[in-house]
Amino acid sequence: MYCYLDGTIKDKDQMNIRIENRGFTFADGLFEVIRIIEGVPLFLADHHKRMKESADFFKIPFSYTVDDCYQQSIELIKKNQLYDGELYWELTRGDDEFREHGFHQEHKGTFAILTIPLRHINQENWEKGVFLTLYPDLRHQLCEHKTINLLANCMAKNFAYAQKGYDSMMFRKDEKARKYITEGGSSTYFLIKDGVIATPQIDNILPGITRKKVISLCKNLQIPVIQRRVYLNEIKHAQEIFLASTVSKVMPVKAVGEHEYPVDGKITRTLMKEFGELIEIEIKEKGELSNDNIQTI
Ligand code: PDD
Repeated sequence: MYCYLDGTIKDKDQMNIRIENRGFTFADGLFEVIRIIEGVPLFLADHHKRMKESADFFKIPFSYTVDDCYQQSIELIKKNQLYDGELYWELTRGDDEFREHGFHQEHKGTFAILTIPLRHINQENWEKGVFLTLYPDLRHQLCEHKTINLLANCMAKNFAYAQKGYDSMMFRKDEKARKYITEGGSSTYFLIKDGVIATPQIDNILPGITRKKVISLCKNLQIPVIQRRVYLNEIKHAQEIFLASTVSKVMPVKAVGEHEYPVDGKITRTLMKEFGELIEIEIKEKGELSNDNIQTI
């Protein structure tokens, strides 16, 4: 298995990263997970934009253009022959000589690309829906950035796994101690009632790429979507709920705790189909592009 690190592609076993890399010592870094289908890294420009904006916010050096990232990713996909899977980008601030908190001009950034076999997801999830648990959102105030600090997300997801669930819906309390749901441990959610979709506004949650695509599909289909705070007590009144993420795509939810939902909900099924078609279009457009590139690599 080959991987990319700071300008070179090498066998993964020959890659060296210092223990004083700030990703290791401070979780001082960002990541992206991009779905690869038929050799095409889907919506790569959106992922690059999100990483670049957060890198600028945290002043993490990131000089790679979208074209650089595209070329390196395609080259790695070809070398590893991983045409259906996940592409993982990680950017950290780089190395310290000795562990020390300060940010310095000398930090050069470390950028790695890996191809990862697609995590196991039961196909039945898309047919029969998934079970979600509820778990407190124990995270920080930087959740609009895809930072590598994911311990609270892992706790939420492992709480779900222990109960044979797929993910947890994480909740926080507002100023009146009312619980509202932020997002899943690695997904965004949409809740449907009386033909109207509600999904949380970007308020200390990740601006998901799939979320953005789904909202724009809804606009085209004239399905109303309201971005607002969604409270925990709305869960029991929902008629359909679905998840959205790079690896889950649009996935129906059959239950949250004790509340059950029909998995053949009309809006959920429509958006699953539409999102599938959007992926087909992306594969067609970008696939032709990458085929041209393969000949030059
Ligand atoms: N997770 N919210 C959180 C907290 C996430 O970690 C993710 C993605 C999403 C969905 O975002 P997107 O549509 O851009 O994938 C929402 C990735 C897939 C992961 O951690 O594996």
